[in-house]
Amino acid sequence: MSTPRAKPKYYLTTPLYYTNGLPHIGHTYSTIATDVIRRYKRMRGFDVFMTTGADEHGVNVERSAIKAGKSPQEYTTAIAAQWRRLWDDLGIAGEEFIRTTDERHHRTVQWLFKRCRENGYIEKGHYTGQYCVHDNAYVVEAGPGDPCPDCGRPTETVTEENYFFKLSGFQQKLLDFYTANPDFIRPESRRNEVLSFVQGGLKNLSITRTTIRWGIPVPGEAPHVFYVWFDALIGYLSAVGGPEFDERGLWPADLHLVGKEIIRFHAVYWPAFLMAADLPLPKQIWAHGWLLFDSEKMSKSRGNVVRPQPIVSVLGIEPLRYYLLREIVFGQDGSFSYDALVSRYNSDLANGLGNLASRTLTMIERYFAGEIPTPPGYGALGNAPGSADFAAEALTRITQLYDRFNFSLALEAIWELVASIDKYLTVEKPWALAEKPENRERLAKVLYTAAEGLRIVTALAHPVLPQSTERIWRQLGQATPLSEVQMDLISWGQLKPGTKIGKLEGIFPRVEKSEAIERIEAMEQEQSKVPETPASAAAPATPASGAAAAPAAAATPKIGIEDFAKVEMRVGQVKSAERVAGADKLLQLQVDIGDEVRQIVAGIATAYKPEDLVGRKVVVVVNLQPRKLRGVESNGMIVAASTGADGSPVLAGFLEDVPVGARLK
Ligand code: MSP
Repeated sequence: MSTPRAKPKYYLTTPLYYTNGLPHIGHTYSTIATDVIRRYKRMRGFDVFMTTGADEHGVNVERSAIKAGKSPQEYTTAIAAQWRRLWDDLGIAGEEFIRTTDERHHRTVQWLFKRCRENGYIEKGHYTGQYCVHDNAYVVEAGPGDPCPDCGRPTETVTEENYFFKLSGFQQKLLDFYTANPDFIRPESRRNEVLSFVQGGLKNLSITRTTIRWGIPVPGEAPHVFYVWFDALIGYLSAVGGPEFDERGLWPADLHLVGKEIIRFHAVYWPAFLMAADLPLPKQIWAHGWLLFDSEKMSKSRGNVVRPQPIVSVLGIEPLRYYLLREIVFGQDGSFSYDALVSRYNSDLANGLGNLASRTLTMIERYFAGEIPTPPGYGALGNAPGSADFAAEALTRITQLYDRFNFSLALEAIWELVASIDKYLTVEKPWALAEKPENRERLAKVLYTAAEGLRIVTALAHPVLPQSTERIWRQLGQATPLSEVQMDLISWGQLKPGTKIGKLEGIFPRVEKSEAIERIEAMEQEQSKVPETPASAAAPATPASGAAAAPAAAATPKIGIEDFAKVEMRVGQVKSAERVAGADKLLQLQVDIGDEVRQIVAGIATAYKPEDLVGRKVVVVVNLQPRKLRGVESNGMIVAASTGADGSPVLAGFLEDVPVGARLK
C-alpha cells in the first residue's frame, strides 16, 4: 500500500500520441490544456502528477519506419525523443513520459490481459471487417472499398484470427456506471454521444493481430500481438506503476484529457477493460474539440498543419497558451488563425496585462522609491481599503470557471479585472495626484489598490501564463514562487505595505502584426521543406524572451544521396505574378513546370517586382506538401539563396537555356 500523502493527489494525462510524425499545434493544444489544468490543480492544493507519452505500435508506425529506411524500434525511439524534447522545451512535459515500447508497459499490458482472461472476458474468434490503417480502427459501418468516415482514406478488408474482448457483456454495467457518475464524460454533448452509442449495443472487440509484427506479444500465443487500443490505453496505468500501481497511490486517474475523436475508446473500451480486470476506473474523461485551419481539422494528411516551433520562436510559448485557451471555447472546435493570435497578443498581453504591470510598478518606483505604499486605514481593519468583497467574489467566480475547465470565460473574467484596474488608474490619475503633496494619502491608496489588484490578477492568470506571471510576481516583490501559492488562501490586503518591488522589466513587448506573421510563416515554410523523418529533427523551439528573439539555428547533419533524391526539383517558368494582399513579402505565382501550371506563394516580394518575374526561369521544388500562406494555397517552392543580414532572396537560375520541366539532379 502507498504511503499516505500530505495533499490529495490528482493524476491527469494527455493522449499518448502516435509516433508516425512530429507534433503540430493540435497535439500541442491538448498538452498545453493538460498543463494548464495541472498548474491550476497544484494551486488548489493537489499533489499533481501528469503523464504524457508516445503510442508507438501499429501498422501506421511500421509503415512510416519502413519509408524512412529504419527499423520500427529505431524510428519510434528517435521520434518519441523529439516529442519529448518539444514538450520539455515548451515547459509542458508533466511528470512522466510513457512509451508503449517501454518494458514496464509490455508487462502491464500482458498482466491486464491475463486478469481479463482469468475473469472470463477473453475469447478467440475470426474477424472480417473494413479497417482504417490510418486511424487503427475497424470501421464497423463500412463495406469493402468504402472510405473511412473520419479521415476519408480507403478502408481495407481484413480477415484474421483474433482474441476478442467480450465488450458486449458490458453494456448495462457501463450504462449503470455513467448514471452513477454523471461527470465521468465531459462535456455533456460527448456524454450524450457515448450514451447513445452504448445504448445501441456493443460488439465484442478484437484486441490482437496475427498480421502485424510490430506490437506487444500475447504471452504464449505467437504470432498474436496486442492491437492498438488494448495497448495504448493501458499506458496510463503503466506510467504509474502498472501491476504495482498500489505502491504509487496514483491510480485511478482523475482525468484523461483527449480530443473528441477518441472519446469512445476512452469512455467505453477503457472502463470496460478495467472492469473486466477488477481495477479502479478513472474519474473523468474530458474531450476537447478540434483546432481547424481553413474550416478543416488540422492534420498532416490534409497538409494544413501549423507547427508550434515557429510561433514560439517569434512570440514565445505564453502568447500561444493564452490565445488557444482564450479564443477557443474548451470542448468546442475552433479556428486557428495567425491574425487572431497576434491580435490577442497585442491587445490582451502587451496592451493589457503587460501594460498594467508596467504602469503600476513604474509609478510605485517613481513616487514611493520602489516600496509598496501604505494605504490609509491599512491595518485598522485587518486589511483592505475597501475592495475585499470584490476580490473575494472575483476569486470565487473565476476558480469556479477553472473548475469547469471553462478557460475562455475564466480568462475573459480575469481580463475584465485587468480592464477595471486600468480604468481605475485612468480615472484616479495618480500622475496628477503626485504633483501635490496634500494628495499623498490618496496617491498611496490608488497605487496600493492597483498593485494589490495586479497581484490577484497575476495569481489567477498563473495556470495559463506560468512564466510571465512569475516575473510580474517577482516585480511585485513577492518572495514565494507563485506556483506554490494556494488560490484558496489569496485575499485582498495581503500585499504588505513597505515591500520592496523587484527590478522592473517589460513582459510582453508589442509586435508589428504583419511582420510577426510573415516571420512565423517564413519559418513554417523553412520547416516544411525538411521531410519528417527522425534524421531531420525540426529545430528545437526556443521560447522567446521577447518578440525579437531569433530562431534557433538548426544543426545540419549529413544526408545520404537517397535523402537528396527525395526532393524533386524542376525547371519552371513564371507565367504570372501578383502580390498577396496584406503580406509585404509574398508573391503569388503561376509557374509552368512542364506538365502543369502550379500556383506557388514565394517570400520574394521585397527583392522582385511581380512584372519582372513573368517569363523568368526558376528552380521549383515540386513534391512538397501543399500549404496555405495567408490563405493562398502554395503547391511547391521556388529555390532562392538567402543573402545579407536580412536574408534577402536571390533566385536560383541558369546561364544556359534550359527546357521547362527539366529535372535537377
Ligand atoms: N495514439 C492515439 C491516442 C491513444 S491514447 C491512449 C492518438 N494519437 S494522435 O497522435 O493521433 O493524437 C490524437 C490527439 O491529438 C487528439 O485526441 C487530440 O488530443 C490531439 N489532436 C490532434 N489533432 C488535433 C486537432 N486538429 N485539434 C485538436 N486536437 C488535436 O489518437
